[in-house]
Amino acid sequence: MTTWNLEGTVCHLLVCGGSSCRKRRGEEVLKAVEKEIGKQGADARIHVTETRCNGRCSDAPVAIAYPEGVWYGGLTPKAGKELVRRTLEGGGLEEYAVYNFEAGSMKAAVKKGGRGKRKPGKKDSPD
Ligand code: FES
Repeated sequence: MTTWNLEGTVCHLLVCGGSSCRKRRGEEVLKAVEKEIGKQGADARIHVTETRCNGRCSDAPVAIAYPEGVWYGGLTPKAGKELVRRTLEGGGLEEYAVYNFEAGSMKAAVKKGGRGKRKPGKKDSPD
């Protein structure tokens, strides 16, 4: 059994490996994230775990970043790489955030009708 040394870890990234996320390129997102972590030499700073369904299939593909507890949705492989880069800079990928913690509970990170509430197959309304 492997025991990970998490000292120095700045982010635990949970990448969904459930069927809905996989149908929407979730496995490619996971591979892109892992590749970018390797490219950046950040194995000790970002720990990645592939999960089962996180219950937000309408936001697929989904990844959750801790300790902040930010839920990202609609990720692409390119966005996964950018998430790694920004995490290492101390930021996040706000344009893909669908939920985050505000005042101790989960809140939609976008306005009602935005990506976090999108129904599959429907376009976002223009701003
Ligand atoms: S399969 Fe990823 S949230 Fe359901």
